[in-house]
Amino acid sequence: MSKVHRLPAALANQIAAGEVVERPASVVKELIENALDAGARRISVLTEFGGKKLISVEDDGEGMSADDARLAVERHATSKLQTAADLAAIVTLGFRGEALPSIASVSRFRLRTRLRGELAGTEIRIDAGQMVSAKETGAPEGTLIEVQDLFFNLPARKKFLKADTAESAQISKLVTQLALGYPEVGFTLRNGGRVVIETPPAASLAERFFQMYGDRADLIEVRKQAAGITVHGYVAALAEAGPVRGPQHVFVNRRLVRDRTISHAIQQAYSVATIKERSPEVHLFIELPPDRVDVNVHPTKAEVRFLDQSLIHEVLRRAIVDALGQTGVPELVLSQAALTPQRPFTGALPLMWGRVPSASAALGPDAAGTDRAGLDPLGDAIERAIQSPGATVGAVAGRETIASLIRPMVPLGQFRNTFIIAVDEEGIAIIDQHVAHERILFEKISEQLLKGGLESQRLLTPVIMDFGAGEHATLKNHFVELEKLGFSLDDFGGSSIRVKAVPAILKWEHSEAALRAAAGDLEGLTPGAGIEESVRQLAATMACHAAVKANDLLDRDKMQFLLDELRRTAHSSVCPHGRPVVLRLTRREIERNFERI
Ligand SMILES: Nc1ncnc2c1ncn2[C@@H]1O[C@H](COP(=O)(O)OP(=O)(O)OP(=O)(O)O)[C@@H](O)[C@H]1O
Ligand SMILES: [Mg+2]
Repeated sequence: MSKVHRLPAALANQIAAGEVVERPASVVKELIENALDAGARRISVLTEFGGKKLISVEDDGEGMSADDARLAVERHATSKLQTAADLAAIVTLGFRGEALPSIASVSRFRLRTRLRGELAGTEIRIDAGQMVSAKETGAPEGTLIEVQDLFFNLPARKKFLKADTAESAQISKLVTQLALGYPEVGFTLRNGGRVVIETPPAASLAERFFQMYGDRADLIEVRKQAAGITVHGYVAALAEAGPVRGPQHVFVNRRLVRDRTISHAIQQAYSVATIKERSPEVHLFIELPPDRVDVNVHPTKAEVRFLDQSLIHEVLRRAIVDALGQTGVPELVLSQAALTPQRPFTGALPLMWGRVPSASAALGPDAAGTDRAGLDPLGDAIERAIQSPGATVGAVAGRETIASLIRPMVPLGQFRNTFIIAVDEEGIAIIDQHVAHERILFEKISEQLLKGGLESQRLLTPVIMDFGAGEHATLKNHFVELEKLGFSLDDFGGSSIRVKAVPAILKWEHSEAALRAAAGDLEGLTPGAGIEESVRQLAATMACHAAVKANDLLDRDKMQFLLDELRRTAHSSVCPHGRPVVLRLTRREIERNFERI
């Protein structure tokens, strides 16, 4: 007797349902997507007990004829795909012909529909995949689908559902997302008679966004078009405390997807501004020709595959960086800097604190900290900084930005040798000197690390430093990368290292701590890949050790230099660790406090 046999249709559908229908929210998703594909302008969703008892989705779309309705609940029946060629350029949300039969196989299912322009409608009832009735009926144009007692015939699945409130939350999240993707469609969601979401059809994404989220001053608009790809939406602005965390909604051709390339591009865009691990809120809408993206790669259609992955990555990253730049990059005020003809820059680290010593300059540890060439912040450095073509220039949006926080200002002095107090016509700024300098150096160091390496400073006599066994092993494995940081090192046996040169930006007395910190950054990384993998971390470490410290006395020239540099530094409102740099008291605030207005 043959042991292979065909599964009965109802059982095959239940197995398929295992992939399509995980929970009530997945039913809501499939039904709303069908309504959207049918051109609905209003979609009304009703749930009871988190969708476990009832899910009903009604739309005013094109509806179905009696014959189509009967077919629609059969497996692999779809109106959205004709040939294999269509699969290569799908423009609808559905395409498999799986959703309705799957849902009907695990619930008590009712479909009522009337095709636009027809007189009579059709009603079909299915229980656990078995057709109960199919008859003509009166019905409004459009389609209503009711799903009762989800998983009543699959107790094992039912057990895995969460509490009603958790399932309800999933559903409202989903409806919110779909409503964002389709501003022109009105959505209503009711749960147990209570209205949860109600958004009339909107004229634009901006309007829909406002309906859903109100006025969000902490988000900025993204808009870019390049290489046939359009990116539009809203992302978290840079704030002193770092970008706001929040949901990351990404739609590709109006389909909500999760995608690693996209997540990476978002993270990279923000990493320019802060190294802090965050998940900034984004609502992004990416449009590209349908034949450049494969949507048929995931059982619930939650993932896609891009033909030009790196192109998408780059366009998206730039779109966000540009948008952030609109609020994060300081304005280059018309000053001598802008008026001086720019000459090509030849030295290294033009914007570093201090004069950059030539590679042949040598010093001994004894001399360090006093007459070291790298410690003089004046002379050349300001000259070069002013004329450096590397200075970042960006437009400034209407909102208050770092450029408006630090205009060309006059430093008055320090508070507790830690904060610089500066003034201009429009107010008073208090700047944390360490984080400000750290921010400035971080940008420069990252850039130099990516370009090749940092300038190094040879010691007159090599110095032996002792390390812990772990540190010693890491350092030994990464001599090549550490050389890029500006260290020149030999293994001296035991757990000692002979130090022949240190980064020029570091004061001698900070070199050892910086080396230990760098060992921490490099720990566990593959030798040879270290710098590339941890550039940001190493740059942050070096910046932190090279920056002026709290309690360092600064003279007026140093303060002025710092303020000027800060104005040129992109995203300078937060330090590499996300700490704020500037506190500003505006003229208005001051006058208000003195009751002058
Ligand atoms: N709300 C609706 N209005 C009009 N037609 C509908 C509606 N829902 C389903 N249909 C019709 O029924 C067919 C089957 O729907 P079903 O959701 O099972 O498959 P699909 O949408 O084609 O593909 P997928 O399984 O990827 O969702 C659709 O192709 C469509 O023609
Ligand atoms: Mg469908």
